[in-house]
Amino acid sequence: MRIDNDQIYVEDVPVTAIAETYGTPTYVYEENTIRANFRRALKAFSRYYENFRFHYAIKANNNPAIAHILRQEGAGIDAASVNEILLAKKLGFAGDDIVFSGNFLSDDDIKAGLDSGAVFNLDDLSLLPRLLKFGQPDILSFRVNPGYGRSNVGDYVTNAGPGAKFGIHPDQVMDAYRAARDAGIKRFGAHMMPGSCLLDPGYFAFITELLLDIIGSAGKELEINFDFIDLGGGLGIPYLPDEQPLDVEATAAQVAEVFTRKVGEYGLKPPRMVMEPARYFVGDAGYLVGRVHSIKNSYTEIVGTDIGMNTIARPAMYGAYHHIYVNGRESEDRRPLGLTGQVCENTDYWVRDRELPRDIAEGDLVVVENAGAYGYCMSYQYNGRLRPAEVLVNGDRHHLIRRREEFEDMIRDTYVPDGLDK
Ligand SMILES: Cc1ncc(COP(=O)(O)O)c(C=O)c1O
Repeated sequence: MRIDNDQIYVEDVPVTAIAETYGTPTYVYEENTIRANFRRALKAFSRYYENFRFHYAIKANNNPAIAHILRQEGAGIDAASVNEILLAKKLGFAGDDIVFSGNFLSDDDIKAGLDSGAVFNLDDLSLLPRLLKFGQPDILSFRVNPGYGRSNVGDYVTNAGPGAKFGIHPDQVMDAYRAARDAGIKRFGAHMMPGSCLLDPGYFAFITELLLDIIGSAGKELEINFDFIDLGGGLGIPYLPDEQPLDVEATAAQVAEVFTRKVGEYGLKPPRMVMEPARYFVGDAGYLVGRVHSIKNSYTEIVGTDIGMNTIARPAMYGAYHHIYVNGRESEDRRPLGLTGQVCENTDYWVRDRELPRDIAEGDLVVVENAGAYGYCMSYQYNGRLRPAEVLVNGDRHHLIRRREEFEDMIRDTYVPDGLDK
């Protein structure tokens, strides 16, 4: 995104053109930013550890056009559900390009996962006998909870550590691999998710060491090797204006140093190093463009827009910060204002006391930053407010990649039993 003469452009497309062509609210993604993010990170990690691969965690943005960009760049997929596996396969990813990291799987999930050929990354030891009931995978991974986790928004998105629902306790890891080995499985992987939106290179190195000590001991004692060790996602992007971007070069260097040292210390055959970020690739490539519909002056002054908790859930869901720009007014003086969507919940009043352009007015376009990850995919239809459109830009070209929902989408696939409509 750039601002030129107070006008906001996504790549080279003015947001005014987006709003005129597709209406508001609309998610807009910069193809070149996604590619640049991926290449920067891949270059850094492959430089320090040659046998390296990224899997894209498709949950963050499952638009097929976005996933195709990452497929073209060489990513595999991290899938959280069978439907994400089916989507990935439809887009051309092979079974062994996909790691299936679902949690609390049903028997149907297990059967469909086996049929798909995706690599299971089991979240609990109890899943192993259930999996083996339906078939024996060629390769199996376990998700380890190394006992520590961190997040950028309080405790809300801490997906490792004692308070998290994910992963196998370190004390059970040896038993898990032993049971898999004794069941005849010959090839193994290991996985963790270190936390969410982390900006400190040292943290990645620290938690990699924790994981490698846990699985290294298991590998050594059980005399097994790992085809891959997946260090999860969590590569952060700055959301707050004063945050600095993650130094991905330093992260790669520090992680690779610990990884190589620990692999040697435990006598493991050097595995492929995998990471599965999403936010780092697509987060800052996406913007949500909305419009100011009315401004109300009651107890406080509130700017009413078509961007609320239904279109971007993160602020209401976990108090996340998203920066806001106002087209045509970025050089104006500022004053503290509130900003809300149109949903009948007060959590929809998601911006409070924010310094916004002084003369913001009805009809202005607002642009929400860092909306490319966990944006559209978390939107919903509450209050009959339907999901936005999605648009991909490349230079001065723009393409609709998901149409805006219409009334028919709200009632599609609902059924009224006979007589109820009488
Ligand atoms: C298992 C797993 N892998 C990868 C990711 C991607 O995380 P991020 O977008 O923070 O890189 C997530 C996100 O929740 C996840 O749960």
